[in-house]
Amino acid sequence: MTDKPTNRLEGSVILIAGAASGIGAAIARRCVDEGAKIVCADYGLQPAAELAETLGPSAAACQCDVTKADSARAAVEFARQKFGRLDGLVHNAAAPSTSATVVNLDESAWRHEIDVGLTGAFLMSKFAVPLIAAGGGGSVVFIGSQFGRVATTRAVAYCAAKAGLIHLAKAMAVDHAPDKIRVNSLSPGAVATTRLLRRFADFEAANAGLGPAHLLGRIANPEEIAAAAAFLLSSDASFVTGSDMLVDGGYATR
Ligand SMILES: NC(=O)c1ccc[n+]([C@@H]2O[C@H](COP(=O)([O-])OP(=O)(O)OC[C@H]3O[C@@H](n4cnc5c(N)ncnc54)[C@H](O)[C@@H]3O)[C@@H](O)[C@H]2O)c1
Repeated sequence: MTDKPTNRLEGSVILIAGAASGIGAAIARRCVDEGAKIVCADYGLQPAAELAETLGPSAAACQCDVTKADSARAAVEFARQKFGRLDGLVHNAAAPSTSATVVNLDESAWRHEIDVGLTGAFLMSKFAVPLIAAGGGGSVVFIGSQFGRVATTRAVAYCAAKAGLIHLAKAMAVDHAPDKIRVNSLSPGAVATTRLLRRFADFEAANAGLGPAHLLGRIANPEEIAAAAAFLLSSDASFVTGSDMLVDGGYATR
């Protein structure tokens, strides 16, 4: 059963970092469907701009490298200039995960994964939180992973970045509750995005390979993650802060 989206994000302005593809693009679409104005910020300006174009006047795009403070600051300023306020931040960006153990992972690969996945969330929040607070509060959502909760093989930087992200959300939730800012992480299981196509020939093969590890016996589609993100961004989650929401089809349960 698929419920029709409501307009529960009407009047909200939401900045999505890493919006151009996969889960980020699904969150962007869902937010617009629910009435929000959104900024699609991504390292790749062209795909972000193409996405914004398909979403109409409620969406705008800007180039943003979340690993660079000036770029993160500029994305937040772009949102302020374009839509006049900011009510939500989604940090979705992640670098491709390098398959390696701690012994054979290059230092540069480690630093890049931590930079995009964790430092990027810090930098985006550093500039977004004051603007959200100035508008009377809102919601911050970090897209984590089930591998921030349970470890997997040959993904040390990814696991560490995602575990850090989950706890960064909790620490920010403590600091910014007085500003009426809720901060949560959302940890998906495997999701059918191009990320999986680096390991599998197609989504059918990805589903066959990864589905059985999930209690529900399948991988997710990006819209299922976007639905949970929209919940966390909306006032339906008004009493939810400092939590990590597993949307993993039961992967981390056993
Ligand atoms: N697909 C999965 O199976 C899965 C599972 C669990 C968690 N996740 C998480 O969900 C999120 C989205 O994953 P996806 O599968 O849609 O991946 P994706 O690679 O399609 O999307 C990542 C986006 O981040 C952007 N990005 C990368 N580096 C950036 C930078 N420095 N600055 C700004 N943007 C940058 C990319 O351009 C891309 O648009 C990631 O955080 C990922 O770790 C994905």
